[in-house]
Amino acid sequence: MIAACGTFADTRTDLQNFAEIEKGRYLASAADCVACHTVWPNGARFAGGRPIETPFGNIVSANITPDRETGIGSWSDDQFDDAVRRGIRPNGARLYPAMPYPYYTKMSREDVLAIRSYLKALEPVRNPVLTNTLPFPFNIRTSMRVWNVLFFKDERFKPDPQKSDVWNRGAFLVEGPGHCGACHTPKNFLGGDKSGEYLRGSNLQDWFAPDITNDERTGLGRWSLDEVAEFLKSGHNRVGAAVGPMAEEVMHASSAMSESDLKAIATYLKDQPGHSDKLAPLPENNPQMVAGEAIYRDQCAACHQIDGKGVARLFPSLADSSMARADDPTSLLRLVLRGSRSVATKEEPTAPGMPSFAWQMNDEQVAAVATYVRNRWGNPAPAVSSSAVAKLRSNLAKRVD
Ligand code: HEC
Ligand code: HEC
Ligand code: HEC
Repeated sequence: MIAACGTFADTRTDLQNFAEIEKGRYLASAADCVACHTVWPNGARFAGGRPIETPFGNIVSANITPDRETGIGSWSDDQFDDAVRRGIRPNGARLYPAMPYPYYTKMSREDVLAIRSYLKALEPVRNPVLTNTLPFPFNIRTSMRVWNVLFFKDERFKPDPQKSDVWNRGAFLVEGPGHCGACHTPKNFLGGDKSGEYLRGSNLQDWFAPDITNDERTGLGRWSLDEVAEFLKSGHNRVGAAVGPMAEEVMHASSAMSESDLKAIATYLKDQPGHSDKLAPLPENNPQMVAGEAIYRDQCAACHQIDGKGVARLFPSLADSSMARADDPTSLLRLVLRGSRSVATKEEPTAPGMPSFAWQMNDEQVAAVATYVRNRWGNPAPAVSSSAVAKLRSNLAKRVD
């Protein structure tokens, strides 16, 4: 009898543990821990060692498997919580915000301990990781104390009682585990979020992560709520395809989120007000528009169509692409120069590709066709200069990715 009771009690604990681990697995996936803490494609998952690029230099991610010597197996729950939500290591040293603790801080302690339970259940991997060396003054971890005073708020997510539960769930996911602002909010010269420009687009790693507010020209104003959710689930929709860092985000994180969570994120993003100025369209006889139209018909229209509307889920609609109309044209120029192959997901298993035009077009030609697609179908965006193309071309030549 006693034995039977014991068994019953154990089973209950197992079930509780299972629920906790499952909650942690889901949050860790939404938070994309695996993307940064793994050397792709061959490194052991969560074993660290991937250099994370920042404007101040590369910062190598840590081993967060339960290995006691080279991972975090010997850490207490409090130590784990301090690292993930406050950027403090067990020895008191500060983490660089390449680890998105300024966003993860919005999670509750229970959330973070659930992630810990999930990580504890993984196979320990022995993998000593060498920490980075940033140039002065950023190599001094103590300077992060000053950074934290300036830019870090140790505070949990607070639901807005004026808004629906769905909106609040979306807000929590975007501000907290999803850390969308890490890429989509512009940064000041010290790498802190610019206040008042939340989610309005930011330059990183020679990409531009566009405005994801509901702005008509630069943001998601032309996307329906379902189209936002579809993009996050499959990496594709009528308007665009996820490429570069966003392809990684979709592959490891958002494609694994539940339909209801993706709708929640879409509801929240579609409720963020737009702000960009309306510009006057360039006149049709503008030399860049004339040259750009000829190049477009020759090189782009076969896929994106003469009317710019593309072919749903195969070739993005440039007529509605906010990425193409971003004030900062980096992502558009990068696609034209480098081409790309977007993400393949369960929903969209064959990722179509776009060829590279770097060899066929000079800087003036790339600038002209870019200016044309930014001004042809309404919601005009600033013209692109050939010097912007030249600069990106030389940056890309130095990149390995
Ligand atoms: C955008 C990349 C990125 C993401 C996403 C990310 N991390 Fe990190 N993490 C880092 C980097 C880089 C470091 C090392 C920072 C440093 O050395 O200052 C780090 C450090 C850590 C540390 C400290 C380890 C040590 O030995 O000091 C822990 C714990 C950690 N991350 C856990 C997590 C968890 C849990 C998640 C998901 C909830 C996560 N990280 C998501 C980049 C990331
Ligand atoms: C062979 C077909 C093909 C041609 C030709 C082509 N593209 Fe693309 N383009 C694509 C595909 C496919 C994507 C989706 C990204 C991916 O799958 O990597 C894309 C994506 C884009 C995007 C991103 C839209 C968004 O919001 O996600 C822009 C902008 C773009 N192309 C511009 C151009 C321009 C300008 C040209 C001509 C210089 C061109 N493309 C030629 C196939 C093509
Ligand atoms: C690691 C950096 C990174 C993170 C984290 C990230 N994004 Fe992105 N995102 C980008 C980049 C770069 C682009 C531009 C390339 C593209 O359109 O695929 C982009 C594009 C997008 C687009 C398409 C916008 C358009 O106009 O074409 C949406 C929507 C989006 N992100 C939503 C999100 C949401 C929601 C989150 C958080 C759950 C998020 N992103 C997290 C880097 C990131």
